[in-house]
Amino acid sequence: MKFFIDTANLDQIREAQDLGVLDGVTTNPSLMAKEGITGRDNILQHYVDICNIVDGDVSAEVIATDYEGMVSEGEELAALHSQIVVKLPMIKDGIKAAKYFSDKGTKTNVTLVFSAGQALLAAKAGATYVSPFIGRLDDISTDGLHLIGEIRHIYDNYGFETEILAASVRHTMHVIDCAKIGADVMTGPLSSIEGLLKHPLTDIGLAKFLEDYKKGN
Ligand code: E4P
Repeated sequence: MKFFIDTANLDQIREAQDLGVLDGVTTNPSLMAKEGITGRDNILQHYVDICNIVDGDVSAEVIATDYEGMVSEGEELAALHSQIVVKLPMIKDGIKAAKYFSDKGTKTNVTLVFSAGQALLAAKAGATYVSPFIGRLDDISTDGLHLIGEIRHIYDNYGFETEILAASVRHTMHVIDCAKIGADVMTGPLSSIEGLLKHPLTDIGLAKFLEDYKKGN
């Protein structure tokens, strides 16, 4: 299972990278705005800065919503760095653009996916990643994890190579449940990764080991 961090915050990206388990980064326009990154040039430079910190794929989202606009913006983003994955919204022109980039061998991430049918279309278009938003489904009393299971089942039925990128992960249990279901990737906040470290018996056990060592040394 790949671990992506879902942020545009360079300090958090560095921290996750330093942990040695980071496989990539996802961003979106809201996450860029949260870090105060505005203006096209600054946004593009920020993507390059992120690529220079991590080794893996970095999703950069287009703002255009028409096919020609998405293609032109996607080309510009892809040219920034070899690690850039063009992130496209799950709309009709987004699917057409995913097919265009897939035919060119450019990696894509189809985002804002909330149903199995949408995920099937993304796979048919040859998307590299499909991003079902589990947290946002949970927010409206719909089981986000159930959707991950449905997509896994459909993709396995036909051997689709599109990777299921469980997005809108909010906490550690989402990560564990996605791993059990077989999501290929999860993207979440740093806290969802660091939460995996924690167990009180680990802390108690370590304290006891150190105490016993001190007794004999
Ligand atoms: C995924 O690529 C999105 O950036 C993200 O996971 C959305 O998460 P949120 O629902 O917590 O905003």
